[in-house]
Amino acid sequence: MVENAIKEVYTALLPKIMTIADLGCSAGPNTLLFISSIISIIVEQCKSGGDASVELQFFLNDLPGNDFNELFRSIEKFKRPNTTGEMAHLPPLYYIMGLPESYYNRLFPRESVHLFHSSYCLHWRSQEPEGLEAWRKTYLNEDNIYITKTTTPFVVKQFQKQFHKDFSLFLKLRHEELVHGGQMVLIFLGRKNEDVYSGDLNQLFGLVARSLQSLVLKGLVDKEKLQSFNLPVYGPSVGEVKELVMQSHLFNMDLIKQFEMNWDPFDDSESDDVEDTARSSMNIAKFTRPALKSLIVRHFGETIIDAWFTEFMSLVAEHLEKEKTKFTTIVMSLKKE
Ligand SMILES: C[S@@+](CC[C@H](N)C(=O)[O-])C[C@H]1O[C@@H](n2cnc3c(N)ncnc32)[C@H](O)[C@@H]1O
Repeated sequence: MVENAIKEVYTALLPKIMTIADLGCSAGPNTLLFISSIISIIVEQCKSGGDASVELQFFLNDLPGNDFNELFRSIEKFKRPNTTGEMAHLPPLYYIMGLPESYYNRLFPRESVHLFHSSYCLHWRSQEPEGLEAWRKTYLNEDNIYITKTTTPFVVKQFQKQFHKDFSLFLKLRHEELVHGGQMVLIFLGRKNEDVYSGDLNQLFGLVARSLQSLVLKGLVDKEKLQSFNLPVYGPSVGEVKELVMQSHLFNMDLIKQFEMNWDPFDDSESDDVEDTARSSMNIAKFTRPALKSLIVRHFGETIIDAWFTEFMSLVAEHLEKEKTKFTTIVMSLKKE
């Protein structure tokens, strides 16, 4: 989808300077993978008769807390030509810039961006849902931290409201910033079915909640602290996403798809059995920790992290004994006419 989008924008608009932004770029190898694949696609386009004088400017966006120093150090290595010096002489020229700011704000001048890309970010909300504290420290989602079987319809509505607000704002802001004919490829976690109580995120965060509940029982976490904690996250269905895009009247939806992958990122098998529960639960706990660490530390303090990790990993192992669960990823491509 990224390849199609970049080729279409390049051939339809023939820009002299092409502006491409990766929103929520983080600071890992995936950031560089995105940049290098865009460069390779444009190199191919230039070879097959495209305008070789095109120059690319990449904007790498993330929250200000992202490790931009680490990111730019890795880019320095990536930019060095290989031993034959080959890459250095091939068009296009490209420039890479950092953009530390939440993408729930305007990031660019109007009509200046050709392609937006965002991978595994848009399930994060700009804040926790509002209105979950009823009065005098009565917390409506009780010991839950996301939507589980015991979450009331009112609380579900609050999570959905926050998603609608954030996603609609995101579409409006990006529409202002895209050139006519510009495109967006958005990849984020969602849920497979319309039922808002179903879904693997509900299961995963249900296990995170249970691990925090056992820390309450062990006296390591204050019960009221847990009750006042909710995740700024929402996994939408394809139907919900389509409806918001339609309601916005801003974009043509070229394509929307969903696919599944195992919770354990190192397990590529199609089988319904977990081969090594201990190894998979460790892998799952290891990628969940960096995703939630800053939220947990901010709310409960640094000291509980190790105990939480151990507790969580053992609950994941217990879960995998019963069921191999998969993430649902939604991928879509939008065009501004
Ligand atoms: C799971 S990482 C994805 C990293 C990379 N894009 C990838 O596909 O591997 C999610 C990133 O989204 C960023 N993020 C979350 N909310 C954001 C916001 N409002 N504005 C900018 N970045 C945000 C986080 O800081 C984090 O680096």
